[in-house]
Amino acid sequence: MKSLKAFLACGTLLAFANVAQAAQCEVTHWWTSGGEAAAVAEFAKAFESKTNHKWLDGAIAGGGGTARPVFISRITGGDPMCATQFNHGRQAEELVEAGLMRDFTELAAKENWAEIVRPRSLLDGCTVDGKVYCVPINIHSWQWLWLSHKAFEDAGVPVPKTWDEFVAAAPALEKAGKIPLAMGGQPWQTSGAFNVLIPAIAGKDIYLKVYQDKDAEVAAGPEMAKVFQAADAARKMAAKSNVQDWNQATNLVITGQAGGQIMGDWAQGEFQVAGQVAGKDYSCLPGLGVNELISVGGDAFYFPVSKDPEVTAAQDALASVMLAPDTQVNFNLKKGSVPVRGDVDLNAANDCMKKGLEILAKGNTVPDPPRLNTEDTNTQLNDLFVEFFKTPSMTPEEAQKRYAEIIASAD
Ligand code: BGC
Repeated sequence: MKSLKAFLACGTLLAFANVAQAAQCEVTHWWTSGGEAAAVAEFAKAFESKTNHKWLDGAIAGGGGTARPVFISRITGGDPMCATQFNHGRQAEELVEAGLMRDFTELAAKENWAEIVRPRSLLDGCTVDGKVYCVPINIHSWQWLWLSHKAFEDAGVPVPKTWDEFVAAAPALEKAGKIPLAMGGQPWQTSGAFNVLIPAIAGKDIYLKVYQDKDAEVAAGPEMAKVFQAADAARKMAAKSNVQDWNQATNLVITGQAGGQIMGDWAQGEFQVAGQVAGKDYSCLPGLGVNELISVGGDAFYFPVSKDPEVTAAQDALASVMLAPDTQVNFNLKKGSVPVRGDVDLNAANDCMKKGLEILAKGNTVPDPPRLNTEDTNTQLNDLFVEFFKTPSMTPEEAQKRYAEIIASAD
């Protein structure tokens, strides 16, 4: 009896200890579309099944441009979350420099992130002064054109294989009552599409000269003038695309109301949720079918400094769970992105993801602009391209002049 009492007391203590160690971990992100919600649910499921902590979902609607200022003001204002999404690169740079983000160097060394994360540049993007401040969780590429088979079938023209064929098919699509190019109104969508046109029309070197070297002469030069002409064609093709969110634009493609969309490979999550099959219902052209490359960008999680040891424990646990092989596969298959680990089984990947993986293996990649530009520069580019797409009277020459000025002052 005595020993049973002792056993029960010990059990109570243990239960209490477990409760005391468990934290509610609020995770903020901007994943609110159908595909995104399905993917983030995989993180929550893995976290709660592998640890004793609770996932508190902090989704913010409206995309990264709306969510990031909220994250930043909460962190700088002393109301930090347990973990938060940012894109790979420079978006959290100032928060890290201000000492507001946790240093994960020890865990990274213990779990050998330097060996398992590929490409290596993604971990470099998390590293400031030799210390690791974030966990890269996926590789997303912007460099895709998504095409609706139904739209082209209805218009009686074959599904294009290149950007030029797509532009040539626009009149037939219009005649069939379709919007040739689906484009949403969120500020990052038009600049994102423009950044996809650069390597396709002008090549990888020009892209790097402009965004990596910040070469304003190249930005103002003849190669980039061709890109502005292509952007002019794109805005005409998108003139009747009256939607706001990127996934509403993807939905125009899914339902065959639009011919195509230039969008990152997170669009795959939407096709998947709609039950569509790559190669049968839709096609995907990396590098717009012209120059097969992918950009290496995506998402990383940062963990604001906390005085609460329970939160710190939950942060450590979440960082590990996010990089675990099974979480990487389950999350990324739903998200449309590629795992950051090269050592996981991707047999279940669809045709488009397999194309992306092949290109990645060949190393034909460019870094995404958020890795090269500051948030301030990207915001200026967003504003310029929203104006260009919405203002038919603004000439490509005028837009290029303003573009070159932004590049000249970018750091
Ligand atoms: C993120 C993706 C996300 C997309 C649209 C990008 O910035 O990297 O994970 O799906 O925005 O919300």
